[in-house]
Amino acid sequence: MTYVMGIDSSTTSVKALISDGDGRIVGIGSTALESHFPKPMWSEQNPIDWWHAAQQSIRAALKAANLRGDEIAAVGLTGQMHGLVMLNGRGEVLRPAILWNDQRTQAQCDEITQRIGADRLIALTGNRALTGFTAPKLLWVREHEPDVYAQCEHILLPKDYIRFMLTGEYVSEMSDASGMVLLNVAKRAWSQEVLDALGIPASWLPRVVEGTAVTGTVSAAAAEQTGLRAGTPVIGGGGDQAAGAVGMGCVTPDRLGVTVGTSGVVFAPLTDYAYEPEGRLHAFCHCIPGQWHLMGVMLSAAGSLAWYRDTLAHDVAYDTLLAEAAEVPPGSEGLFFLPYLAGERTPHPDPNARGAFIGLTQRHTRGHMTRALLEGVAYGLKDSFALIANLGLPSRYQVRISGGGAKSAIWQQIIADVLDAPIVNVTTTEGAAFGAAVLAAVASGAHPTVEAACAAMVQTGAVVEPSSNRSVYAAGHARYQSLYPMLKPLFAALGS
Ligand code: XUL
Repeated sequence: MTYVMGIDSSTTSVKALISDGDGRIVGIGSTALESHFPKPMWSEQNPIDWWHAAQQSIRAALKAANLRGDEIAAVGLTGQMHGLVMLNGRGEVLRPAILWNDQRTQAQCDEITQRIGADRLIALTGNRALTGFTAPKLLWVREHEPDVYAQCEHILLPKDYIRFMLTGEYVSEMSDASGMVLLNVAKRAWSQEVLDALGIPASWLPRVVEGTAVTGTVSAAAAEQTGLRAGTPVIGGGGDQAAGAVGMGCVTPDRLGVTVGTSGVVFAPLTDYAYEPEGRLHAFCHCIPGQWHLMGVMLSAAGSLAWYRDTLAHDVAYDTLLAEAAEVPPGSEGLFFLPYLAGERTPHPDPNARGAFIGLTQRHTRGHMTRALLEGVAYGLKDSFALIANLGLPSRYQVRISGGGAKSAIWQQIIADVLDAPIVNVTTTEGAAFGAAVLAAVASGAHPTVEAACAAMVQTGAVVEPSSNRSVYAAGHARYQSLYPMLKPLFAALGS
């Protein structure tokens, strides 16, 4: 029997998961992480905390599976994307990592856009410079912490720091590297033109490989620290969204993925490279050789619900809130929620965007507010979906769903109604960590391709069909779409 491990270094925890070659999960270890918010809209973590958490989680997963390290055939890596890890020549961390949800870099995004030109930047990298992405963070450090910048010799993404600690290799892979605004996504190689324009030394960048490639092996020191066997192959893996898509079997253009986690994501696999001319969608490499994907990212999806409960109903169970929402008619009797609590990326790349309840009356109850929130997030997913549809969808497709928010039956039904598409559940809800294990299974030789591995390892479950509420939601979405443009000047004033 082949066993493989996926390690997901996410924003909230480092999870290690062991699967067999048929996709049965036999052991999981998870260690919580803390984020630090040194100023409003800043978000940081210490990379060394990730490594300590990874050691603990790997040991816990081996123990839970009752396996020895030498029974793991290969390790796949995934994690939160875009975070900037800076190392000196000895591989020591120079400052806390600046994370994907940090919004400090609008000035640097403007500088990048101005140096390269908006259209040229999108043509080269497939993407706009967004505050969450990596290159603007590096420019911010150059400007604000020149002493740190002067010592830098390597930059890495979060999961690739775990790889460095496991193997000693400076390597990234295509899907995660796409989120740095330094990769020529169409050519699957670093863009020398962008590096030159920004004055970033190419020698600082890791080597980039495909998600199924072997990037090195577990060192003797790392074996000692984790319980893995020295010499175990560590494979490229993928950014959390690409690996999560593999975990849902979204590896062909007829299978779109929706993830309702802290962020909300619509993921569309592509066999031919395409990008949105205004850069409102992310155009990234998939973690599968020769595939790309388009992606819409909302920054606060289940994150909105978590904020709402923690702030306004911390003593009320989620199930109670969701049951109250189910009693309210679709459309929440005219109440709307804008889920831009952390600024937004898709379809409004605007760090100043803010959350709002709009249309409150005395008649509205907590159930209405909860339902309006669930609907607002679904409308935001629809915005991404509509942008993807503009670029062309296959005539037949299905939507596969994952993430903590997807566990709610009412939220799934609202999403099916708003998207007007059947929603297919997958039986493994371990997302990115499982996807990384699937990629490792391919590298270990258990399956010939990622598509074949998904066919063998990913099982589908219940399907939620759109209900007659979809016409209410078509009208609701049009009204929702009219709200942001009206509020944008106010958001800009509030943010200045
Ligand atoms: C993707 C993105 C988020 C983070 C969170 O572009 O920013 O999914 O990777 O984990």
